[in-house]
Amino acid sequence: MEQKRILCVGLVCLDIINVVDKFPEEDTDTRCVSQRWQRGGNASNSCTVLSLLGAPCAFMGSLAAGPIAENLPDVCADDFSQLDLSQYRWIHFEGRNADEQVKMIEQVKSYNATQEEKNRITISVEIEKTRPSLYQLFPHGDVVFVSKDVALHFGFQSASSAVKGFYSQVKDGAVLICAWAEKGADAMGPDGTVVHSDAFPPEKLVDTLGAGDTFNASVIYTLSNGGSLQEALTFGCQIAGKKCGVHGYDGILQ
Ligand SMILES: Nc1ncnc2c1ncn2[C@@H]1O[C@H](COP(=O)(O)OP(=O)(O)OP(=O)(O)O)[C@@H](O)[C@H]1O
Ligand SMILES: *[C@@H]1O[C@H](CO)[C@@H](O)[C@H](O)[C@H]1NC(C)=O
Ligand SMILES: *[C@@H]1O[C@H](CO)[C@@H](O)[C@H](O)[C@H]1NC(C)=O
Ligand SMILES: *[C@@H]1O[C@H](CO)[C@@H](O)[C@H](O)[C@H]1NC(C)=O
Repeated sequence: MEQKRILCVGLVCLDIINVVDKFPEEDTDTRCVSQRWQRGGNASNSCTVLSLLGAPCAFMGSLAAGPIAENLPDVCADDFSQLDLSQYRWIHFEGRNADEQVKMIEQVKSYNATQEEKNRITISVEIEKTRPSLYQLFPHGDVVFVSKDVALHFGFQSASSAVKGFYSQVKDGAVLICAWAEKGADAMGPDGTVVHSDAFPPEKLVDTLGAGDTFNASVIYTLSNGGSLQEALTFGCQIAGKKCGVHGYDGILQ
């Protein structure tokens, strides 16, 4: 039987990356040493990493016919209802149009209720931006990723204080995870202990764009294969660290 997939719902876009010798000063011109165009977007990046790890995955989002597009609509609950949910074992939502995303998660809940345990779908959500409408996602994930930005916004000065402070917002049995750049990442599950992994800095820091997406994908990969929370955090930080040492994603498994 073909293995069920991990679905990521969110954005795909074009990232134009200009490499410069040093961080530019405001209102100055700087000659860039190289430029590359790279597929980006958080959910799309996470799919890239999942497929490099060998996990069957799928992406759901709006695509444009040409390289330049404005105001692509977000996936809505109506679009989502056309999916055959039996193809998926895990669905990850990049927090965007949260009102609609809550409705999509309700659809998964109803689907779950008709299925035996082994066919039920696990939900993860990420809350990256400090946008109040996104905070309604906290109680809807089995796994919730909250960003350093959101944590700082609420006055938490470390990943461990963030997971302790936000834990009352998540649903029973859920896991809450917060990555903190070069400080690694912390998480808390239903037993209330805080789990930590240090970062694994590469020899030379080359490109951190998408490090967070790499971290999330590697954590989801480990948890979806039955790994422990500690294993998931450590693997997430290892692969994200590798990513910081290369341009783009090729070579993150070496
Ligand atoms: N400078 C760094 N050195 C080593 N590891 C890093 C560094 N920056 C990020 N990481 C790794 O990547 C993980 C996620 O990083 P971070 O918290 O910066 O995510 P993010 O801000 O969501 O990422 P992005 O840069 O893609 O927006 C960290 O837990 C860490 O393991
Ligand atoms: C999300 O994607 C955008 C566009 O590719 C990128 O600028 C941003 O850094 C990404 N965020 C994370 C956490 O990876
Ligand atoms: C679906 O079932 C799984 C497994 O029992 C559970 O962890 C998850 O919370 C359920 N998802 C939803 C959205 O109810
Ligand atoms: C991964 O989680 C972080 C929060 O830790 C968030 O900033 C980022 O956008 C997430 N990426 C995806 C694909 O959800």
